[in-house]
Amino acid sequence: MSRGRFIALEGIDGSGTTSQRGALAEALRGRGHVVLETNEPSSGSIGRLARERLAHSAKPLDRGALALLFAADRLDHVATEIEPALAAGRIVLTDRYLMSSWAYQSMDCEPQWVRTINARAPWPDLTLVLEVPATEAMRRVSARRQRQGPQLEIYETLALQERLARAYAELARDRSLANVTVIDGTGSMERVTEALLEACEAIGL
Ligand code: TYD
Repeated sequence: MSRGRFIALEGIDGSGTTSQRGALAEALRGRGHVVLETNEPSSGSIGRLARERLAHSAKPLDRGALALLFAADRLDHVATEIEPALAAGRIVLTDRYLMSSWAYQSMDCEPQWVRTINARAPWPDLTLVLEVPATEAMRRVSARRQRQGPQLEIYETLALQERLARAYAELARDRSLANVTVIDGTGSMERVTEALLEACEAIGL
């Protein structure tokens, strides 16, 4: 059996990675692929701990310790979910992965150290970066939080999201990184899904 393909969706908070993961997975299934949908922080015990400490109300965790939690969660996620699914020939579609740590944790920690602690995480076959202006993304996040709660997480401020948008823009255009595609996330849900699907076709799916 041939190995599956590993696709990561990335972008600032409110860029649409979660909704688009579902829509893209459906579109790929419609083409006969078997797709595992997953996310980071993962649903495993380390991922749950990271998510808990991201809430504004949680006792603040040292940012280096948080970076290590994300990195540990990632290796556990790769070993227990991602790698077995790829070995079984499935497409793995994750809402956030390695580039999230490079962008987010590099605001708090030395960027090279963030790369070092994540060095064992395999690079995806395709990284799709959804670009949405920080003002629009924060509007979406605030509306969602009002509907569903809970309260905002530590990175969900306009100033930090502006910084993150710049960090993602730079990473997305770094020619030394393989198979990264920038997608305009401001269009209709359907238009964005179509653009994501086209990028998947470009790697032979
Ligand atoms: P997110 O997927 O946006 O969760 P939610 O569905 O609750 O909005 O991820 C939660 C936060 O975690 C988000 O602000 C990004 C941050 N994050 C990091 O800082 N580093 C990482 O490595 C990952 C995976 C997420």
